[in-house]
Amino acid sequence: MIKKCLFPVAGYGTRFLPATKAMPKEMLPIVNKPLVQYGVEEAVEAGMNDFGFVTGRGKRAIADHFDTSYELEHQIIGTGKEELLGSIRKLIEKNRFAFTRQNQMKGLGHAILSGRNLIGDNPFAVVLADDLCFGEAGGPGVLEQMAKLYAQFRCSIVAIQEVPADQTDKYGVISGEAIKDGLYHITDMVEKPKPEEAPSNLAIIGRYILTPDIFDIIENTPPGKNGEVQITDALLTQAQNGCVLGYKFKGKRFDCGSIDGFVEATNFVYNNIYKS
Ligand code: G1P
Repeated sequence: MIKKCLFPVAGYGTRFLPATKAMPKEMLPIVNKPLVQYGVEEAVEAGMNDFGFVTGRGKRAIADHFDTSYELEHQIIGTGKEELLGSIRKLIEKNRFAFTRQNQMKGLGHAILSGRNLIGDNPFAVVLADDLCFGEAGGPGVLEQMAKLYAQFRCSIVAIQEVPADQTDKYGVISGEAIKDGLYHITDMVEKPKPEEAPSNLAIIGRYILTPDIFDIIENTPPGKNGEVQITDALLTQAQNGCVLGYKFKGKRFDCGSIDGFVEATNFVYNNIYKS
């Protein structure tokens, strides 16, 4: 159903300096795997196999990660270390990876629009790799939950979670009418509102399913918060003219764009995935 998935990965990752001075923040490892690979694996589990990356200068390590490394493979062939490459080899064999650049930093909406040539006229997922998400133990991942909903409703969907009222200014925040438990028909969306201006405490996290009409809408969306073209503003237009759903996903999300979230995610993965 949804085969394409876009990763906007052009951002600088300044919160992790100096670690991210010469390395993309999406390549920071959670235990032994880079953040971006977790996102790709989540999308593969949801049935996607065609990946587009909107990159920028200094981000070539991401393209190298999703490509064969002949020298390295040659060095470790037949040794016990070969199996450590198993997960990434499988991804490279079974999926397509394409890269384009965002040549100006003009916001998430602009980044998504920069990926238009990789997506074409198809519904697609967007993953913000620094939000690391896991479904409930034994259950489907967050994108898989959303892809199922898309099959039923055929409109754009954003993943949401309740956040403390004093943190609304870090997120896009929605309000809407509940269709059923955990699913909202969105009527309002605001990018990074102050707590007193927030329409609720339901925050958008970095998983989206978008219908391709969003590209024309983004093109006509003026810069918003911080002078950047915001996907939140484009989605509000789409919600007002049609339908956008907010889905309170089942599972966990770690904000790996912050040091605290990164450390929590590392402990979670070490104890619950790596060790078991
Ligand atoms: C972006 C979006 C915001 C969303 C957030 C989720 O913000 O603009 O609406 O809530 O991702 O992580 P950023 O964190 O890139 O500033």
